[in-house]
Amino acid sequence: MKIIGGPASQLLASRVAGKMNSKPVLCEFDKFPDGELYTRILDDNIENEKIAIIQCTYTDSDFISLLQLIDACEGAEQVNVVIPYLGYSRQDEKFKSGEAISARAITRALTADNVFTVNIHEKSILEYINANSTTDLEASYLLGNHIETLDLKEPLIVAPDSGAIYLAENASSKTGIEYDYLEKERISGEKVSIKTKNMDVTGRDVVLLDDMIATGGTMAESIKILKSQGANDVYLACIHPVLAKNAVLRLFNAGVRDIISTDTIEKAESVVSVAPLIADSLNKI
Ligand code: R5P
Repeated sequence: MKIIGGPASQLLASRVAGKMNSKPVLCEFDKFPDGELYTRILDDNIENEKIAIIQCTYTDSDFISLLQLIDACEGAEQVNVVIPYLGYSRQDEKFKSGEAISARAITRALTADNVFTVNIHEKSILEYINANSTTDLEASYLLGNHIETLDLKEPLIVAPDSGAIYLAENASSKTGIEYDYLEKERISGEKVSIKTKNMDVTGRDVVLLDDMIATGGTMAESIKILKSQGANDVYLACIHPVLAKNAVLRLFNAGVRDIISTDTIEKAESVVSVAPLIADSLNKI
């Protein structure tokens, strides 16, 4: 299988190719003077080959690049698409009348043989994709393995809300590290209030774990709550390090010890690679 890395997932695609004992296909990504994107696959032997395109759609341009890469694979025997992080996935329903269901608008534009995502925010989004199969991969175990290697004092994994309990449970399952959760109430787009849960974090190192950190509002509040309850060091772990605007400063200002994430979005915090997970799945096709 030939592995093609989009502009936003070049390192991850290269790691996946390495796991599959191949080299990533060389591509050219450029911009026209008016800002339009240019994409070219620099491999004349795409036809009748099995292809896997790996591209996270963190920005709008990333999504255009993905569409261009799929189009450029015309004639391939099989086109598999891996979207490690799918932008717009949080707008998966109409929260107010007249709103676009952005996740649906985006995914309806995709056509491929098999599509893979990683911890997609809402699995029902996959139903909009025009593909023979869609699979959401679970990366929380990988974060659990990494948390286990940290030298933590009486570690506790905490989900910042009930929706993320399954992540904490998964991360804890193979490591034996205890887990718990906090209760969250969203006040506005950027403001959340978190009610404390009945757990004793006194003197313990806590790892807050969520699917994504966007503005950092959820985590900043959670850090403050845990610190006020006597937690020792507070670490953050997430699958998708969206980390928009001043999120990193906000989190360190709130007292976080470190931020750990996977490479579904390639950032400095992406110390845990989902490449083994993706390579395993592609190997099974
Ligand atoms: C919400 O449903 C998600 O799981 C995250 O908790 C949320 O997206 C984090 O957003 P922010 O960092 O802006 O608080």
